[in-house]
Amino acid sequence: MGILLFYLPLIWLSSSSPSHALQQSFVECFSSYSSPQSIPISKVVFTNESASFSSLLHQSIRNLRFLNTSSKPLFLVTPFHESHVQAAVVCAKKKGLQLRVRSGGHDYEGLSYLSSQSQFIVLDLTNLRSIDVDIETETASVETGATLGEFYYRIAEKSLIHGFPAGSCPTVGVGGHISGGGFGTLFRKHGLAADKVIDAKIVDFNGRIMDRNTMGEELFWAIRGGGGASFGVILSWKLKLVSLPPKLTIFHVQKTPKQGAMQLFQKWQRIAYKLDEDLFLHVTIGVQEQTISLSFVALFLGPIEKLIPLMNTQFPELGLQRENYTEMNWIQSILFFAGFPIQTPPQILLKKPLSNAFFKAKSDFVTYPIPQNGLEGLWNKVLEEEGSYLILTPYGGKMSQISELETPFPHRKGNIFGIQYMVSWENGSESYKHLSWIREVYAYMEPYVSKDPRGAYLNYRDLDLGRNYGRNVRYEEAKVWGLKYYKSNFERLVRVKTKVDPSNFFWNEQSIPTSLYRS
Ligand SMILES: Cc1cc2nc3c(=O)[nH]c(=O)nc-3n(C[C@H](O)[C@H](O)[C@H](O)COP(=O)(O)OP(=O)(O)OC[C@H]3O[C@@H](n4cnc5c(N)ncnc54)[C@H](O)[C@@H]3O)c2cc1C
Ligand SMILES: *[C@@H]1O[C@H](CO)[C@@H](O)[C@H](O)[C@H]1NC(C)=O
Ligand SMILES: *[C@@H]1O[C@H](CO)[C@@H](O)[C@H](O)[C@H]1NC(C)=O
Ligand SMILES: *[C@@H]1O[C@H](CO)[C@@H](O)[C@H](O)[C@H]1NC(C)=O
Ligand SMILES: *[C@@H]1O[C@H](CO)[C@@H](O)[C@H](O)[C@H]1NC(C)=O
Repeated sequence: MGILLFYLPLIWLSSSSPSHALQQSFVECFSSYSSPQSIPISKVVFTNESASFSSLLHQSIRNLRFLNTSSKPLFLVTPFHESHVQAAVVCAKKKGLQLRVRSGGHDYEGLSYLSSQSQFIVLDLTNLRSIDVDIETETASVETGATLGEFYYRIAEKSLIHGFPAGSCPTVGVGGHISGGGFGTLFRKHGLAADKVIDAKIVDFNGRIMDRNTMGEELFWAIRGGGGASFGVILSWKLKLVSLPPKLTIFHVQKTPKQGAMQLFQKWQRIAYKLDEDLFLHVTIGVQEQTISLSFVALFLGPIEKLIPLMNTQFPELGLQRENYTEMNWIQSILFFAGFPIQTPPQILLKKPLSNAFFKAKSDFVTYPIPQNGLEGLWNKVLEEEGSYLILTPYGGKMSQISELETPFPHRKGNIFGIQYMVSWENGSESYKHLSWIREVYAYMEPYVSKDPRGAYLNYRDLDLGRNYGRNVRYEEAKVWGLKYYKSNFERLVRVKTKVDPSNFFWNEQSIPTSLYRS
């Protein structure tokens, strides 16, 4: 790490308030630790008084609930180089500042850019987004500031018969997504995004850069589903691509209760997880014209000719005709599940529009089919709440073949589907009403979902499950939500955490505790 030689004319350094003094000493520290020197520090470190501070901070805030909070970082650091990340970690630690790391900013509770404690900085990885796809070895190196959409686009640029099994939303960042598990339409065939990580580069609390070899298998295990934020700053992933057929097939069927939605759903929940692993058939439940509407949406890894006989034997009740199926390649299927017409130029996947919604979500896992009265109650709740919907994702296939100890993500065999409850709204004054609704639905569903622990998906982060109130994270309290996200892997995550970050520098409101505060 070199010394930054040029003088930095930063006007705000002249003021004498404590926070200014802190900012100044951080910048001095940062300059002395970071290289290369070709990038002026004014392009890397932004105080709240810099003109671009707000736009930089807001550009990756996906949930308007967290736009106008009083919790603002002292400054934003936007590294262009790995040494900038190292410098940010070393100097934040030296100056007693907390660090929040942001990749795509999709965290459901805003933990990548908010903090319940006042003095923190945000390390936004937006400039570290290079992607290098190598079709020969079927691997890719992806820096953690990149989005899923960019990654998918770069794969398709080189090959239409390769892909990567991760989430459907193109603006999600690979930093949070892959370190939290990451599932999408390919996961019944290929597992989670985290299952496809073959190496990673991470900056630890001492500012050292490590790869799989130097970090060791325990830490490498932890960051593939345990969340990155508890352990360090992940700089990049090395990922294994999957090969896919040139022709994939989708269909989309919508049904109301009058059109037999209940019977179809009853069948769906009994068979979807047992279907051929080439077939992903999920259901979304929402409201259209004051009635419940179920969408059965499928992706099949093969041509129409192969899917027709499969549907005719497994699920003839859906009543599909040849004209209801559409063939396409993988990148078109990405466009389809992202809500774009499939003829849209895939460059659209490189865009990152600002968010315009408030939302709150929760998750559950289902291990036995839900009885009809339970479903009716659930659908009535969806019906009574504007902006609410559910996404039900079938498990099984490859997900059942991978041991729940293989990565920290434990929700594998035994789950028939996952539920995401979602409500979104546009009027910020009505947040309380919507939050109450989703909490009520969650309470209602308890008898019908996984128990001891009631499972939850880390990437659908939910602070209602519990939170840390500061750096002195209490093990017993963290265990309550820790078991929901990780089941028995929680203990192993605590052991890794205690070893790699004993001082708990990398903490947040739902980070893994060290065992030091065990009562
Ligand atoms: C619209 C939308 C659609 C979604 N669709 C899916 C889906 O299809 N499948 C699915 O599995 N999930 C989905 N998610 C959830 C998504 O996977 C998580 O929100 C994920 O954590 C987002 O990652 P991010 O990098 O965008 O978020 P961020 O807010 O940047 O980060 C999330 C967490 O990871 C930490 N983190 C981020 N980068 C790093 C890093 N480089 N090193 C260490 N820690 C880091 C952050 O500090 C924070 O704690 C969706 C979310 C949204 C909002
Ligand atoms: C910047 O942050 C400091 C410390 O929190 C605060 O005193 C100051 O008012 C802020 N300035 C702006 C422009 O928000
Ligand atoms: C945030 O605050 C600004 C300025 O007060 C206001 O114009 C905007 O509507 C607010 N946005 C949200 C989502 O609350
Ligand atoms: C199949 O397509 C036809 C023609 O578009 C449509 O009328 C019918 O409703 C579709 N069937 C299903 C099950 O969606
Ligand atoms: C937002 O909600 C509040 C409280 O319910 C209401 O008074 C207000 O009219 C709403 N604003 C808009 C633009 O609908």
